[in-house]
Amino acid sequence: MDSNTWDQKYSTEEFIYTKVENRFVVEFCKDLDGTNKKAIDLAGGEGRNSVWLAKRGWQVENIDFSQVALDKYLQFAKEEGVAEHTLATCADGLTFVPQLSPVELAVIAYMQIPEKDLAVAIRRLSEHVAPGGNLVGVWHSRDNLEHGFGGPRDPQVLPNVATITEALVGTGLDIEVLENRDGQIQTKEGLKPSVTLVLLAHRPL
Ligand SMILES: C[S@@+](CC[C@H](N)C(=O)[O-])C[C@H]1O[C@@H](n2cnc3c(N)ncnc32)[C@H](O)[C@@H]1O
Repeated sequence: MDSNTWDQKYSTEEFIYTKVENRFVVEFCKDLDGTNKKAIDLAGGEGRNSVWLAKRGWQVENIDFSQVALDKYLQFAKEEGVAEHTLATCADGLTFVPQLSPVELAVIAYMQIPEKDLAVAIRRLSEHVAPGGNLVGVWHSRDNLEHGFGGPRDPQVLPNVATITEALVGTGLDIEVLENRDGQIQTKEGLKPSVTLVLLAHRPL
């Protein structure tokens, strides 16, 4: 989907992806101290994860190619009293130049784009992770096609352990966690299984 299509999708009062932070972002970031530290949330959309991080003290830059999403995020951050901790950059995830770099934390959540493009985005994002810093990723897993419900059904935009491992080669980041997590998704027929791919990678000091 291009940025115009995303802009159209986001052009509603409703927060499409809710204002609730993602549980895997919480799992990997809740014990990190954001005081006087910087974070990039790549493809951060309406900012549910950016705002949560900002409330925990991080200076956060949400980089997304949808200006409509970023406007909603900035308003959300203002309402939550963290405007001073939040930056927005409207840019393509494959070519962005961040305002904050290097950062102690980089988050990429549900950026479901073709495999080669995702590898470019991950490598670019990794370049900005400081020594001692972390990269956290969350995606609908390719294994969700066979074993789960919800999310995109095009395998090209669904990473798995192999594609993310390959994308991280040469970045200097050590993979600490890269695995599928079983969860549940609400469907019209009730709760169904869903498979989420999660990543925690670390740049050694
Ligand atoms: C499914 S949403 C996830 C938003 C957010 N990370 C979250 O978890 O709520 C995917 C986001 O990726 C952004 N996106 C997709 N392709 C992009 C690209 N090439 N460059 C920048 N942003 C992109 C979209 O605008 C959208 O906000």
